[in-house]
Amino acid sequence: MRRVITYGTFDTLHHGHIRLLRRAKSLGDYLIVALSTDEFNALKGKQAMFSYKDRKYDLESLRYVDLVIPENSWEQKTTDIQLYHVDVFAMGSDWTGKFDFLKEQCEVVYFERTPGVCSSSIRESMIAATK
Ligand code: CTP
Repeated sequence: MRRVITYGTFDTLHHGHIRLLRRAKSLGDYLIVALSTDEFNALKGKQAMFSYKDRKYDLESLRYVDLVIPENSWEQKTTDIQLYHVDVFAMGSDWTGKFDFLKEQCEVVYFERTPGVCSSSIRESMIAATK
């Protein structure tokens, strides 16, 4: 069993997220998504449109995702990798190089971001549509 892990907020689930999750799952047999909690997002200065509960529900509905766990801090990656026996850590290319220190523990892969779509712009459009 080859286990893959990825991290993120996955707000307003979109095509870029699905492509990232599909490619991450293709690297192994079991995909874990560490999903940023609302409290952790607040710490990052990010406000998601959808709650942790709703974002988790959506991710759990996807065929590529096997397990969703909470992401509460920047530091938890090292312990998650140990705890869940992770073989591959995968992130989008906006994070290239940022997690290379995890190469001591597992394989680290960065995927090209899908151009033209992001949660921030979807959130802005949704807000603008209600005005
Ligand atoms: N991602 C991607 N392609 C996109 C958007 C996101 O591959 N167009 C990837 C990110 O690189 C990350 C994961 O999806 O590994 C979760 O990203 P997240 O920050 O939740 O999504 P964004 O759409 O980038 O959100 P925001 O606009 O709020 O930064």
